[in-house]
Amino acid sequence: MLREKYKAEIDEILSRYPLRRSALLPLLYLAQKEEGYVTEAAMKEIASILKITPPQVYETVTFYTMLNLRPVGKFHIQVCKSLMCALVGSDTLLGWLEVRLGIKPGNTTKDGLFTLSKVECLAACGTGPMMQINDDYYERLTEEKVDRILADLKRDGTSSLKSGPFMWPERTDG
Ligand code: FES
Repeated sequence: MLREKYKAEIDEILSRYPLRRSALLPLLYLAQKEEGYVTEAAMKEIASILKITPPQVYETVTFYTMLNLRPVGKFHIQVCKSLMCALVGSDTLLGWLEVRLGIKPGNTTKDGLFTLSKVECLAACGTGPMMQINDDYYERLTEEKVDRILADLKRDGTSSLKSGPFMWPERTDG
C-alpha cells in the first residue's frame, strides 16, 4: 500500500496543491517508481487519497506515455516519432533498435532488460533523432551511438552518452 510505505512523501506532495486532485500526476509517478508501472491497486488507492473516481485516474494514466500500464524492462527505451525527429531519421533509429533488440515497439526483451516504445515529441526537437531511456535523454543519435548506449547499459547500467535527465527535476524552492 502506497499510503503505508510513503506516508511522508504523499503528505508532502499533497501539501503543494490547494486542490487535492492536482496531486494526481506526482502520486502516479510515485506509484510507478514503486512497481515500475501503475498497478490497478495503485490507481484505486490514489483515487481514494484524492477523492476522485478510479476511472478519472485511469484516464490520466492512459493519456501520458510516461506512465506505464504494464511492467516494463529495466531500461525503457522511448523513441520520439514526432515530425522534427522523423525528418532527421527516427524511423531508421527505431528500425536499428528493433534489429539490435529483436523486438517491436510495445515489447520487452526476453531477458527483461529492454522495453521499446514509440512516443510523441519529448521536447528535444532540435537535437533529434532522440530517445529517452528511463529518466535520461539521448540526442543526435546515430547507429553507432545506439550500439554504444546499449552496450553501456548492459555492462554498467548507465551510459556517459546521456544528456538528461530533464524529467521530474529536483525541487529547488525548498
Ligand atoms: S519532435 Fe522529437 S523531440 Fe520533438
